[in-house]
Amino acid sequence: METNPAPSFLELDHPKKSPCGGNCGDCAKAARSTTSSKSQPNVAQLSGKQSAHRGFRRFQFLTGILLVLSSGAGTYLLATDASLWLLAFSHAVGLMIIVALDLVLGLYSLSSSKSAYLPSVAAAFLGFILQLGDVFTAPQYNMTILYFAHYLFGLWAFDLILGLQLTIILVGVAGRPHARYLSRRKTRRGREFDYSRRSFMKALVGLAGLIGVGVVVGSIKLPAPASSTTPTSTNTQTGAAQGSVANVNELQISSPVYFEYPAGYPNALIKNTDGSLTAVSMLCTHVCCECSFDSASKVFYCPCHGSVFDISGKVVRGPASADLPTIQLRVDGSGNVFPTGINNPGPCQV
Ligand code: FES
Repeated sequence: METNPAPSFLELDHPKKSPCGGNCGDCAKAARSTTSSKSQPNVAQLSGKQSAHRGFRRFQFLTGILLVLSSGAGTYLLATDASLWLLAFSHAVGLMIIVALDLVLGLYSLSSSKSAYLPSVAAAFLGFILQLGDVFTAPQYNMTILYFAHYLFGLWAFDLILGLQLTIILVGVAGRPHARYLSRRKTRRGREFDYSRRSFMKALVGLAGLIGVGVVVGSIKLPAPASSTTPTSTNTQTGAAQGSVANVNELQISSPVYFEYPAGYPNALIKNTDGSLTAVSMLCTHVCCECSFDSASKVFYCPCHGSVFDISGKVVRGPASADLPTIQLRVDGSGNVFPTGINNPGPCQV
């Protein structure tokens, strides 16, 4: 069965029934006159224009569907992955802007607006680069790039967004001959639409600026409200000796004292019912969100994906699969407790 292939610029500007195949001098003249003469377009030109419009509309429809799907996958990620909000708020804001852009441009593309073409490809290009770039922000969250990449690529919605954005870029590239042809046509109001490298760069810079502002705003740290479960710093117990975390004689059974060891890494020291001491890292071994201690049920709870650890740091409920790292302690003759090392360090780098 014969198909109707996408017209190339050359095909569109030449009479289709020319016996010479468009290579003779007459045809060349006819092609030149297509853009220069003020005469009415002939049948071949009209059909070329219609064909280009039809082809372009098909690419735009596909782009629109893919953008709306990408927006849906982003919304799912924002709605289901609390670590985005609690651990990387600026990323959540960036993703929110990408989701909104995808939706607007998707609907715009579905309405067959030609002006959506370049911004859609630019948005997909930016989204793809930024999503991949996320992997390299791992050290900011105390993880290795490899570990964070393993987590991110394990999220189907993240993979789907990447795949959709890559497909939108490819569809955009495939639609270029139509776009180029239409952009060269003049209407009474000027060119049919603006298609140039400059316009693409302008769209790219504009969208990058918009996302950048969102990420910067999302990075602004607001003062945290005071909370009984929020770890503070070393020496949280009043009157503890210099360099110590607490004095064992002052500790209440099952009532944690929070300290940092090393600086910036939150831990909890707990006196057990038998008088022994346990100190565990508060950073969840799943994706390094900070846990909080639930004094009613005596467990550490991770707010990001709901992992639960018992008072000694053992996993009670996943998705975390490794126990919380424990802190080695030394108690001097006066009962002062000093952290001296870390056992079984997890994925959260120290
Ligand atoms: S970071 Fe995912 S459960 Fe803790």
